[in-house]
Amino acid sequence: MSILLIAGSPSERSRSAALLESAGHRLRALGQQVSVLTVRELSADALVRADFAHPSIVEASARVAAAHAVVVATPVYKAAYSGALKVFLDLLPQTALRGKTVLPLATGGSPHHMLALDYALRPVLQSLGARHILPGIYASDAQIVLTPEDASRIAPEISARLDDAVAALVRETPALAATASFADIDFARVQCSY
Ligand SMILES: Cc1cc2nc3c(=O)[nH]c(=O)nc-3n(C[C@H](O)[C@H](O)[C@H](O)COP(=O)(O)O)c2cc1C
Repeated sequence: MSILLIAGSPSERSRSAALLESAGHRLRALGQQVSVLTVRELSADALVRADFAHPSIVEASARVAAAHAVVVATPVYKAAYSGALKVFLDLLPQTALRGKTVLPLATGGSPHHMLALDYALRPVLQSLGARHILPGIYASDAQIVLTPEDASRIAPEISARLDDAVAALVRETPALAATASFADIDFARVQCSY
């Protein structure tokens, strides 16, 4: 199964990226094929000017389409997710996450904004067609220590939640979720039961 990790922090030294990498490490240990898409490495000009045709955006969009599942990580900025992540998600097709399972992760300065995953990010993931959005994991800065050696230490309670969430992601993702070429639904042909 192919799993795309999306790092949504604009910062180079990033706690949310450390949380994401920790999830990636666990997924690789479970035999999954994992790759990382770091939003801050995309063309800033293309992101800010909504240049859908820019090669870095086209390539990133194709990587999302090819993934069976997505793990998306963001810092909390002003009680929501990062603007960098938002401008990237804005450039994806409306059904970019159709059929996919998504695990959202966030870090914040304090526990006060832990619901930002639910009231801010979750509706956006839903609007992109995600089939299944797992309960998110929120860690405060005190729970993720970045070490001078570019490594990180994650609090045991967050590590335990990552173990469970990653296992759920693998268990609850259908093997053929990559939906890059699915045809749009013709609503005129949809029949409702009554
Ligand atoms: C511009 C900005 C806004 C922030 N707003 C919030 C906030 O509203 N709530 C919060 O808990 N933390 C806030 N923080 C703290 C970050 O969410 C926190 O340090 C996070 O772990 C950073 O993640 P990163 O290292 O992946 O960028 C803010 C930080 C910055 C730089």
